Amino acid sequence: MVEIEGSKIIVALDYADPVRAQTLVQQLTPAMCRLKIGKELFTRGGPDFVRDLVAQGYDVFLDLKFHDIPNTVARACEAAAELGVWMMNVHALGGRKMMQAAQEALRNTSGKRPRLIAVTILTSMSDDDLGLIGLSGSASDNVSRLAALAQQADLDGVVCSPREAAMLRQQTGDDFLLVTPGVRPVGASMDDQHRVLTPEQAIAQGSSYLVMGRPITQADDPLARLQEINHSLE
Ligand code: C5P
Repeated sequence: MVEIEGSKIIVALDYADPVRAQTLVQQLTPAMCRLKIGKELFTRGGPDFVRDLVAQGYDVFLDLKFHDIPNTVARACEAAAELGVWMMNVHALGGRKMMQAAQEALRNTSGKRPRLIAVTILTSMSDDDLGLIGLSGSASDNVSRLAALAQQADLDGVVCSPREAAMLRQQTGDDFLLVTPGVRPVGASMDDQHRVLTPEQAIAQGSSYLVMGRPITQADDPLARLQEINHSLE
């Protein structure tokens, strides 16, 4: 099993405004969580915002889901590594060569190599949607096949729904990271998530890290909520 140091919680900073994101971050501590920055916040806050969080001691997961020709993705991954991020991701649908080029580029960067994970099939895609883009089989078949491809390309793991974690943990073995959103502590609002597991259940199913946004960012006391969740996983 990959040894997880520190908190397994990655707080999703789903804010349009970097100032609001900073206000939340100032209520947290790097010892208690990692942070995820997605396309909206990155597009508004830019690389300086990422550098700032890294300088505050946070492990940052840059969730930009790169998908392009291998050379372009490799160079983008290098650029992300220069920001000092801890984890980044690409789309497995970009193919094995693209994933290999990305991992190769990260191996050659100086400093600590960021973890590279893949998105397999977006959970917003139904089986019908997959048919429309020419992918046969169920979403679950495609997730399994693309996770295997990511592993062959020597990536560190995949993003997956907690409902897929047990199947993927069995398929990929212990040394592959499974990073799962769709997690809700007991009693928390479901928001727009449908099929959720609790943090304890997700970890029991084989998840390595849990991506959580609103249960923490919208809590009256985000630090206390984070403490409760971390405590529940000890
Ligand atoms: O607020 P909440 O905990 O629902 O946030 C979950 C985070 O995980 C958001 O950043 C969302 O975009 C992301 N995510 C997800 N489901 C996926 C992939 C990513 O909820 N299948």
